[in-house]
Amino acid sequence: MAFSIFRAHQAILQWRPCTLSTFGRTIHTFREVQPLRTFRKELRGSQKTVGFVPTMGALHEGHMSLVRQAAAENTDVFVSIYVNPTQFGVNEDLDSYPKTWQEDMDKLQTLNKELESDIGAGRITAVFAPTTKVMYPTLPPSSEISGSGSFVTVTPLGSLLEGASRPVFFRGVATVCMKLFNIVMPERVYFGQKDVQQTVVIRRMVKDFHLDTEVKIGPTEREADGLALSSRNVYLGARRREVGVVLSRTLKAAEKKYLQGKRLRADILWPANEVSTSKMMEQDDLPPSKRARIEVDYISLADPDTMEEVDVVDPSKGAILSGAIKMLPLEEPQEGEDCGLGGGVVPVRLIDNIILQPID
Ligand code: PAJ
Repeated sequence: MAFSIFRAHQAILQWRPCTLSTFGRTIHTFREVQPLRTFRKELRGSQKTVGFVPTMGALHEGHMSLVRQAAAENTDVFVSIYVNPTQFGVNEDLDSYPKTWQEDMDKLQTLNKELESDIGAGRITAVFAPTTKVMYPTLPPSSEISGSGSFVTVTPLGSLLEGASRPVFFRGVATVCMKLFNIVMPERVYFGQKDVQQTVVIRRMVKDFHLDTEVKIGPTEREADGLALSSRNVYLGARRREVGVVLSRTLKAAEKKYLQGKRLRADILWPANEVSTSKMMEQDDLPPSKRARIEVDYISLADPDTMEEVDVVDPSKGAILSGAIKMLPLEEPQEGEDCGLGGGVVPVRLIDNIILQPID
């Protein structure tokens, strides 16, 4: 009986552009808005709930953990895979952003199989992979700060920290997420704490525009030594990978002070600055054939709602400790060395954060 209902349901869905079957449920891929909307409406009619995970592809365990969380809380999980041009500045790495479509689909299929054994869990049923013409139908999208287009801006939140180094970044993120939310109309949206300022911007946008969705945040997934997983880590290579862990150690050093009862900015941040500065000096002293030089962009101690810097942490509110470092290109890559994708010439910006939890 269940099987024939399933087959009948499949027949209704036959017009869809592309389907990948796993046992019992199917991942439908959509490149256009209208077919996705039709599919989504059918789900609403049958009392199903959609958890939406927006991504730019090059999927890793960080993305997968959000999908798992979405599957635990919804019947259907929609994933978008779209490298959004408006969040990249004119000189940023849009063209070199890793694109791994087939691997991404394989990973989602494998995860769906894993979810089969989890009674009560939802499944990934739709992947939305639009073209830029679909996402920006009126004008070619602009990455210029003064460019033409319809944009969502969240100020001043979007101009601080990450926004200070990447002026169009949060405008691009808020704009594409607004479009995606309008298309998918999800009950819940899932974002990773890894990009903490992004979560604050999205929460604010959802609140200020009365968007009818619930924002859920999943924890940062890390390598065993603490390096936060990121699609860009493939560019690091072994030498820069080893040094890159300094960012999470820097933040941990500051967190330790907060947990020991320190509340003043200087008391919390000095050990962090000490960890990053000593790593920088250590690398500067090595010969170019052995070193991986870094630049610290910022180490921040900020209010959790506004991301404005704080001089003292209010323990009833907590704070967000965050940082960004730039791993400079390798100066002298060695014969046979694992230099990562791009041969070590691409600078890699790493970001990370720790939430200093409120203490009653
Ligand atoms: P992307 O970098 O692909 O990340 C998609 C989602 O995965 C984001 O919510 C991000 O915070 C989360 N994520 C990335 N690394 C993670 C990790 N180590 N642990 C947990 N979650 C992690 O963020 C974007 O794409 C884009 O800005 C997007 C929101 C899709 C808009 O274009």
